[in-house]
Amino acid sequence: MAGFIARHHLNRVFCLEDFEKLSKSCLPRAVYEYIRNGAGAEFSLHYNEAAFHALLWQPYRLRQVDKVETGVTIFGETYSVPFGLAPTGGAAMVRYDADRLEARAAHRLDTPYILSANSLTPLEDVFAVNPRSWFAPYFPDDYDVIDGMMARLEKVNCRVIVVTVDVPVAAKRIAEQRAGYAMPIRPNLPAARGALAHPGWLFGTLLRNIVAERKPRIENIRAQGGPGIFSKEIKAVGGSPKFDWAHVRHIRDRWKHKLVLKGLLRADDVEKAAALGVDAVVLSNHGARQIDTTISPMEALMETRARLPDYTLIIDGGFRSGNDVLKAMALGADLVLMGRPFLQACAVAGESGVAKAITLVKEDIARCMAILGVTQFDQLKEVLIEN
Ligand SMILES: Cc1cc2nc3c(=O)[nH]c(=O)nc-3n(C[C@H](O)[C@H](O)[C@H](O)COP(=O)(O)O)c2cc1C
Repeated sequence: MAGFIARHHLNRVFCLEDFEKLSKSCLPRAVYEYIRNGAGAEFSLHYNEAAFHALLWQPYRLRQVDKVETGVTIFGETYSVPFGLAPTGGAAMVRYDADRLEARAAHRLDTPYILSANSLTPLEDVFAVNPRSWFAPYFPDDYDVIDGMMARLEKVNCRVIVVTVDVPVAAKRIAEQRAGYAMPIRPNLPAARGALAHPGWLFGTLLRNIVAERKPRIENIRAQGGPGIFSKEIKAVGGSPKFDWAHVRHIRDRWKHKLVLKGLLRADDVEKAAALGVDAVVLSNHGARQIDTTISPMEALMETRARLPDYTLIIDGGFRSGNDVLKAMALGADLVLMGRPFLQACAVAGESGVAKAITLVKEDIARCMAILGVTQFDQLKEVLIEN
């Protein structure tokens, strides 16, 4: 039955926005808003996407485009697409076992995948289904906790950590609060109403998590796990207001593999990271979820690429098609990440939903490149102009 419903949904999906619309009918409003919403008045949420409209294509014609190259190599690993799954916490609230479903789909389709620390699935179980996973820790300022977590990651042979640095304190997102979303989970009228209106989610996701895990916990915050989703301690999950460059130096001294900082928007911060030996950064405003009215990551990319021509730059925020991804590649990005669309695809149809989302973007990339008259990413800058 579940398979039939998933197939029925997938037949109605033609682009990533369709997943957003369908996820609205699959999820209680509190969870739907938790994924969709942004900070403040959501200016940045729209501005992130508007950045793509300020860049237009001027295609070449009459070139042979029967073979386009859509793969990338990053940190010595080759993938079939230039985009990956951004770390998204709370995925298990969207669908039971969502972390593993996403990790598996990504692995099957040769796509980078990043597990968030803010997840209910022990990272060992996720690395078992996708050994090429990257991990995005939320480190506290306590050096012993950081060291313990790095030792745990060594044991699963993790090769890339993406330290999220744009959550010194928790954000305030009004739409999710109004809909009753809260961590730790607390019964409230709007959330209860939404859950009862979605029995499939109530039994198949929330209660299944509680029954299967007994006491579901945020498993990947510390070496020995983390707080339960009903515990007040959960407030501490996220970064720390005392986490600073000294911590980055400490991590760099001890972590022998690739180190990425996620959430930078200033070229001078990227220069500092590069000088400390950080291997790459993710230019990101956390999908406009932390603070409203920041510059868009695409604007940060233009400034940063001009100042650091050879540094590895990853970007996310508002990408919704292959066409969008190609604009970042044209401006010199090495990899693009997407968050919301994959969570929404997972809500709609689990692993096959995520696989379809990846495939839609991959096909769009190949199609757009051919129509633009280019066969390799490094030719894209020739056909992009600012509006
Ligand atoms: C529901 C949700 C949860 C997220 N959780 C995390 C997280 O735990 N760690 C992190 O670094 N970023 C997190 N992010 C931000 C994403 O990694 C990414 O920066 C953002 O989603 C990109 O924007 P997009 O959703 O428009 O693609 C989260 C985003 C969403 C939508």
